[in-house]
Amino acid sequence: MMPEKWLLRVLVLLIGILPCILGAFIGIDIGTHLSKLPPASEVIAILKANEITHVRLFDADSHMLNALANTSIEVMVGVTNEELLGIGQSPSVAAAWVNKNVAAYVPDTNITSIAVGSEVLTRLPHAAPILVPAMNNIHKAIVASNLNFKVKVSTPHSMDIMSRPFPPSTAIFNSSWNSTMYQVLQFIKNTNSYFMLNAYPYYGYTKGDGIFPLEYTLFQPLSSVKQIVDPNTLYHYNSMFDAIVDAAYYSIDAFNFSGVSVVVTETGWPSSGGANEPDATVKNAQTYTNNLIRRVMNNSGPPSRPAIPINTYIFELFNEDDRRGPISEKNWGLFFTNGSTVYPLGTGSGQMAGNSTGLFCIAKAGADEDKLQKALSWACGEGHANCTAIQEGEPCYYPDTIENHASYAYNDYYQRMSSVGGTCDFDGTATTSTADPSYGSCGFTGSVNSTAGRGYSPTADGPVSPFMGSRSSMLYPEIGVIIVGIFLHWFWL
Ligand SMILES: *[C@@H]1O[C@H](CO)[C@@H](O)[C@H](O)[C@H]1NC(C)=O
Ligand SMILES: *[C@@H]1O[C@H](CO)[C@@H](O)[C@H](O)[C@H]1NC(C)=O
Ligand SMILES: *[C@@H]1O[C@H](CO)[C@@H](O)[C@H](O)[C@H]1NC(C)=O
Ligand SMILES: *[C@@H]1O[C@H](CO)[C@@H](O)[C@H](O)[C@H]1NC(C)=O
Ligand SMILES: *[C@@H]1O[C@H](CO)[C@@H](O)[C@H](O)[C@H]1NC(C)=O
Ligand SMILES: *[C@@H]1O[C@H](CO)[C@@H](O)[C@H](O)[C@H]1NC(C)=O
Ligand SMILES: *[C@@H]1O[C@H](CO)[C@@H](O)[C@H](O)[C@H]1NC(C)=O
Ligand SMILES: *[C@@H]1O[C@H](CO)[C@@H](O)[C@H](O)[C@H]1NC(C)=O
Ligand SMILES: *[C@@H]1O[C@H](CO)[C@@H](O)[C@H](O)[C@H]1NC(C)=O
Ligand SMILES: *[C@@H]1O[C@H](CO)[C@@H](O)[C@H](O)[C@H]1NC(C)=O
Repeated sequence: MMPEKWLLRVLVLLIGILPCILGAFIGIDIGTHLSKLPPASEVIAILKANEITHVRLFDADSHMLNALANTSIEVMVGVTNEELLGIGQSPSVAAAWVNKNVAAYVPDTNITSIAVGSEVLTRLPHAAPILVPAMNNIHKAIVASNLNFKVKVSTPHSMDIMSRPFPPSTAIFNSSWNSTMYQVLQFIKNTNSYFMLNAYPYYGYTKGDGIFPLEYTLFQPLSSVKQIVDPNTLYHYNSMFDAIVDAAYYSIDAFNFSGVSVVVTETGWPSSGGANEPDATVKNAQTYTNNLIRRVMNNSGPPSRPAIPINTYIFELFNEDDRRGPISEKNWGLFFTNGSTVYPLGTGSGQMAGNSTGLFCIAKAGADEDKLQKALSWACGEGHANCTAIQEGEPCYYPDTIENHASYAYNDYYQRMSSVGGTCDFDGTATTSTADPSYGSCGFTGSVNSTAGRGYSPTADGPVSPFMGSRSSMLYPEIGVIIVGIFLHWFWL
């Protein structure tokens, strides 16, 4: 009996810890250009409520770093572009920066990386010569503080440093930065750090003048005539996000550096924009964000590096109303400062569905009762909607109207079936809505609050928060490998 018990314990342990070891993570960027930034404690409460495990600060704000203490949230801090010059010129300025902004908080605050500058080559090209000296000075200070095994140093790049991102296999960095890029890569390689990339399919799409289909940028299925294939490798690119990440890998390859991995330090989609920004919509932002999370959490890498997960930070936590520029600039946030989401997160179908974009399907107000009744019966019968919740005694029974019951059933059907062609029509009695129709204890399928919405997901015990480490079925082959390992080990003992 003993060995079996032991094995069981090992298995339980493995299942518990594997997601942390193997799983990709989704983090979130916290920009602070808000007219009314909530106090740090409230920001942390929002992070915790959503089980966010990784954050990137663009500076090293002491209130935030204190509030992040003892939360186990992993933190990336930033040397601002304004601080770059001093740090690049003076090792002692760098040491003071590290003491004040990193060493003073570790280990209570789990600072694990430092972003030196932000898109320096594209935003401050004249500062290029100081970039790698600044990274080196910060790194030396980290070593002196004995934190080099804990804290990685790198610098986030705009995707515009690639002069030819498609096809990915021929991507190269803009050669005007060859010598800086070489030094950056050498630094990353020598210090066992990683390449930081800001990857924005939104800009790739809006600046692409219609070259790329919108579905491609939103991780939606592409029709057979629109497949995006790299002519050299014949890899199919299901999303522009994958293509941009792969372009970075190939650009790094062109410098003959191997084993450098790419982390996406910013990506996202604005939920609102000006009249000349028609693609900045809640619907697109919601589709992008939710499909991005599912994409990253499936733990696979881009086609050229399938085994390297694409750890990703979403830009950004809050809408920053004080940012300059077009209206879209102020609308990248996932949350309002009161903690409610700008659009539902973690909803929709369990797969990267073409058309299940967090839309809900409900009965039209005032629709014909006979038609409603027929369509309701169809949805709960042949349509295989799960109509448990609208039975007497269940949470969605009241209000006991045909319209309410039809809404529940239509929506359940739609959430399951829209990705495979199911429509929200029901003989003209149904309409889609972006508003979550859930009320009280009645959670509609696909709602953030609805457990029913997750019941049919292919990962039956999927994460509760979209940001949580994945327990995707991808992991089970790995467990299988480890189980075999244990058996062999056991056998040889
Ligand atoms: C974190 O927790 C430790 C141990 O409980 C405590 O000593 C420390 O003061 C806490 N840090 C902060 C910043 O609250
Ligand atoms: C900090 O993050 C690292 C890397 O994920 C992890 O190994 C470590 O346990 C974390 N530390 C704390 C105190 O949570
Ligand atoms: C490369 O960078 C230079 C200098 O910033 C810029 O003038 C040029 O347009 C860039 N080339 C491409 C193809 O992006
Ligand atoms: C920059 O690097 C690329 C790829 O390694 C190379 O083809 C190109 O000639 C280099 N350009 C300069 C100016 O060194
Ligand atoms: C990379 O390696 C190949 C093959 O060894 C060589 O031909 C090429 O010049 C190298 N490129 C650079 C940028 O060092
Ligand atoms: C993960 O996502 C990639 C890229 O979209 C896809 O090719 C792959 O099939 C997905 N894997 C799983 C297990 O869903
Ligand atoms: C949170 O704030 C947003 C925007 O101001 C508002 O639309 C929403 O109703 C608020 N939510 C709650 C629960 O107060
Ligand atoms: C998505 O669904 C809507 C409404 O059902 C339909 O008009 C639209 O064509 C669908 N889009 C795709 C890509 O299937
Ligand atoms: C149907 O929905 C109920 C909750 O309303 C849930 O408990 C049950 O597991 C669901 N059944 C299926 C087959 O998904
Ligand atoms: C989810 O539940 C919370 C707390 O019960 C509530 O504040 C929030 O408005 C609900 N969200 C939706 C979309 O129903």
